[in-house]
Amino acid sequence: MPARGMDAVTNEALWDAAEKTLRAIGVEAGATCLDFGCGHGNYTVPLAKVVRPSGTVYALDKDDAELRRATERARDAGLDNVEPLTSTDGPLIALDDDALDVVILFDVLHSYYFTVEERKRLFEEIGRVASPRALLAVFPHHMEADEIESEVVQRAIATGFERARDYRGPLVHDDHVVEDSVLIFTRGQRVSRGRTASTRD
Ligand SMILES: C[S@@+](CC[C@H](N)C(=O)[O-])C[C@H]1O[C@@H](n2cnc3c(N)ncnc32)[C@H](O)[C@@H]1O
Repeated sequence: MPARGMDAVTNEALWDAAEKTLRAIGVEAGATCLDFGCGHGNYTVPLAKVVRPSGTVYALDKDDAELRRATERARDAGLDNVEPLTSTDGPLIALDDDALDVVILFDVLHSYYFTVEERKRLFEEIGRVASPRALLAVFPHHMEADEIESEVVQRAIATGFERARDYRGPLVHDDHVVEDSVLIFTRGQRVSRGRTASTRD
């Protein structure tokens, strides 16, 4: 079933754009990923396409209806590697330590959803579930430059990530393709397409 208010062609166009973005960011087949604040799945579905067949996407959203739509859209697209994760009050992310190769935080960190204290707790939790070689990608939409520095860059660094590079190009936002930036952070050394991309030492 297409997403509400969109036809199948629009879905495909959005997913194609988001898939290109995710590949450019460095997401690869086989990765275990978390789409935190997945909404109705504009990145969940392409993420699942990029990492299949052996990779898994954990989709997490506090809005049950949005989470349901994301998983339904994945299923309708023929993808069986999306696992819904319900938000919990205790540990924010119900996954084991070091479970993830990739975490994406797209258009979710801004003050509409997170207080400073909640954001700090979220980054600590991401630090716990991200593996020592994980990639973290943040689309800090609706955040000012100084807030991005203090509430994204510094928090990611405090959690053990290093700022690797920025992606600038097409991104899906609110069911449209826009031109914007994603901050990319890495931990340790990531081996990519036969070469070693060194981010530490
Ligand atoms: C603006 S939407 C972005 C959706 C998607 N990431 C995208 O870029 O298309 C933000 C989503 O984050 C979810 N969200 C906000 N705070 C959250 C929290 N603490 N835990 C889980 N989901 C959250 C909201 O319910 C909403 O669906």
